Amino acid sequence: MIIMATQLNINIIIIFNLTLPPSISNCSRLTNIEMNENKFSGKLKIDFSKMKDISYISLWENNFGSNEPDEMQFIDTLKNCTHLDTLDLEECNFQGVLPTSVGNLSVQLRHLLFGGNQLHGKIPVSIGNLAGVNLLLLERNQFNGNIPSTIGNLHKVQRLSLYKNQLSGQIPDSIGNLSLLSGLVLASNKLEGAIPSSLGNCQNLLELYLFDNKLSGKIPIQLFQLLSLSIILNISQNQLSGSLPTEIGDLVMLSAMDLSYNNLSGNIPSSLHTCASLSSLFLRGNLFEGTIPPSLSSLKGLVKLDISHNNLSGQIPRFLEALPLEYLNLSYNGFENDVPTIGVFANASAFSVVGNSRLCGGIVELGLPKCKETKKHKKKFRLFVIIILIASTLCPITCLTYVWCKKKSKSQPSQSSMGERFMKVSYGQLLKATNGFSEANLIGNGGFGSVYKGILEEDNNRFVAVKVLYLQNRGAERSFIRECEAMRSIRHRNLLRIVTSCSSVDYQGNDFKALVYEFMPKGSLHDWLYSSERTTRLNLLQIVNILMDVASALDYIHNLCIPSIVHGDLKPSNILLDDDMVAHVGDFGLARILGTSYTNSSTGIKGTIGYVAPEYGLGNEMTSNGDVYSFGILLLEVMTGKKPTDNFNEGFSLHKFTSMVLPSNVIDVINVNILYVYQEDETFLQNKKENVKKIEECLALILKIGVSCTVDSPTERMDIKKVVSELKHILDTLQNI
Ligand SMILES: *[C@@H]1O[C@H](CO)[C@@H](O)[C@H](O)[C@H]1NC(C)=O
Ligand SMILES: *[C@@H]1O[C@H](CO)[C@@H](O)[C@H](O)[C@H]1NC(C)=O
Ligand SMILES: *[C@@H]1O[C@H](CO)[C@@H](O)[C@H](O)[C@H]1NC(C)=O
Ligand SMILES: *[C@@H]1O[C@H](CO)[C@@H](O)[C@H](O)[C@H]1NC(C)=O
Ligand SMILES: *[C@@H]1O[C@H](CO)[C@@H](O)[C@H](O)[C@H]1NC(C)=O
Ligand SMILES: *[C@@H]1O[C@H](CO)[C@@H](O)[C@H](O)[C@H]1NC(C)=O
Repeated sequence: MIIMATQLNINIIIIFNLTLPPSISNCSRLTNIEMNENKFSGKLKIDFSKMKDISYISLWENNFGSNEPDEMQFIDTLKNCTHLDTLDLEECNFQGVLPTSVGNLSVQLRHLLFGGNQLHGKIPVSIGNLAGVNLLLLERNQFNGNIPSTIGNLHKVQRLSLYKNQLSGQIPDSIGNLSLLSGLVLASNKLEGAIPSSLGNCQNLLELYLFDNKLSGKIPIQLFQLLSLSIILNISQNQLSGSLPTEIGDLVMLSAMDLSYNNLSGNIPSSLHTCASLSSLFLRGNLFEGTIPPSLSSLKGLVKLDISHNNLSGQIPRFLEALPLEYLNLSYNGFENDVPTIGVFANASAFSVVGNSRLCGGIVELGLPKCKETKKHKKKFRLFVIIILIASTLCPITCLTYVWCKKKSKSQPSQSSMGERFMKVSYGQLLKATNGFSEANLIGNGGFGSVYKGILEEDNNRFVAVKVLYLQNRGAERSFIRECEAMRSIRHRNLLRIVTSCSSVDYQGNDFKALVYEFMPKGSLHDWLYSSERTTRLNLLQIVNILMDVASALDYIHNLCIPSIVHGDLKPSNILLDDDMVAHVGDFGLARILGTSYTNSSTGIKGTIGYVAPEYGLGNEMTSNGDVYSFGILLLEVMTGKKPTDNFNEGFSLHKFTSMVLPSNVIDVINVNILYVYQEDETFLQNKKENVKKIEECLALILKIGVSCTVDSPTERMDIKKVVSELKHILDTLQNI
């Protein structure tokens, strides 16, 4: 049945019949035609030329294919429809050639959809006239020839799909003119040549599909600078070559990347770790070599990883166990040693390691041979033995060393077989290790001596710091004895370890005393705070970690060492940082071992002005409360960026200056530079208000610790044990922001 509407005021026609009569052509006032999913067959014979008001034509899923030469003639009749907005003719089985007159469609046309037909021939150059189009789908046809470069004139197009045709030649450079493009789908054609670098201008692109073509050459760097790419970059199944540039790490928003089946080579760039949004990464079937970069451990959202069929080698990294992987394919590479067993590796159907002939272990389903005891295990074992050795000998070592050193100038050393390894350092060896105590090796000057960096050949070329004592300085020798004595029983993660010591005569016959410490490559906290050579600054999380470390060290020497030890000179220059930014408290030159004879006689104030507890000025003995005071000052210093010796107004001190603002105006005194990490953190910013509040609370709690540690009355200062537990609590909160 059909409603005839020739002279009637009917705007919309709905047809339920199986034939689509040409008489509709006389419905000159139609605005919408919507006849989707019918079984209309035969040539579309409607003449649209009288329908001056038509704006919406949607005929998808019909069967208009006739294979007659003028099958697409109706397009010509559409040129007078100046209000046409949508022409949706998808899945209509059209078999003809798209006529040039498609370019004469209304400039108001926004949606042109011809997907899923059998249109062939070229895409008419005139398509570039459709200046108003924002959705152009010509996918799944048989268009051949080049993509006309006039496509670059479609300035309003947001989604362009030419997927699955027979298009050949190069992708025109003009594609870069499509500045509003958010989705580009040119996949499954026969496109060749390089990917145009002009694509980098499409700064609104969210998804890009170029897979299954014959594209070659290097991937232009500009592609990796499409910061908008957030859905997918799929350029797999081409002939792209070269290595991946570090710029790949710029794709920080991208969730899926597929570079499979190309000829890409070189290493997997470690900069990939900044693509923090990646949930799928497919690099299958390339020529990548080297190991899986450790930095990928920071891809915390990675669910699918396929790096099969490459030339990768090394061990399967353990961090993969901790990623939320649901699919992991490592097949056909050169991976070796043991297959992990937890995380994704616990589920045989979720991962594949076939075709790696040197793997062993893993879950039983893999049927791999058992792992032999590997070198690594042996090394671990050896290390373990050494640690035991150290542990069992550390107590006597430094003292033995000392005793032995003392004896040396008079008589032969009495060598202990256990301590032997640590006792063989002579003046000559230290001279060599430090390049003759050269200026270039000098890393610091302390009250009692100079510190040199050195390499101790005798100890596996270990990097060391050698503190040479100025024996002419009053107290230097005593300081040496103290430090030896203090370090005798000490072994803690946050204390600087003494490797050995030397007491001898130099080549001029003068007394020579030196202490040899493990070397701390990241320098002192003082450098981090004030050295102009450091370009990066500490951030809040690092600072709280360092404070935790220092407090733990104090807790250890005060409360867990028997007899307990007072450091006596805690300050930023005595806090040293290792490669992992773990803090080690050093310089026990002023240490006091409680209950020993090393009490301070009358040599004036010990410690360093600004950090030394006020009671010491009154001649009081050094106590652990004094260390707590110094710790509090140090805490306030790193948090506020102000030195305790800075000029504060009207008799203010760092303590008063800070306690004034508590509890609510902490931001007024905080060194805001330590907060820079949060300024760019996406997840932080998403929940900014709430997070800022949490941080402010943490800052207030930290300052409160500093303030309670620096009260005048020694007994009212916060207990260092409590400091440790509060800092730990704060650290937990900060880490969860
Ligand atoms: C349109 O209407 C005219 C006269 O009303 C008629 O002659 C003509 O055949 C109609 N056209 C079609 C295609 O039905
Ligand atoms: C189409 O428009 C042109 C002028 O814009 C006019 O000459 C022509 O007659 C129109 N065709 C029809 C079928 O109305
Ligand atoms: C159709 O478009 C072509 C350019 O593609 C133009 O030369 C021609 O004049 C247009 N025809 C009409 C009737 O607008
Ligand atoms: C379009 O792209 C071409 C080639 O990249 C360029 O030469 C031309 O200037 C661009 N035109 C516009 C209007 O942006
Ligand atoms: C892993 O990759 C290989 C080769 O690329 C493939 O043959 C195999 O089917 C993949 N395994 C799984 C579980 O998908
Ligand atoms: C794979 O890497 C090895 C060295 O690790 C090299 O000898 C070999 O030629 C590489 N194979 C291919 C196909 O690049």
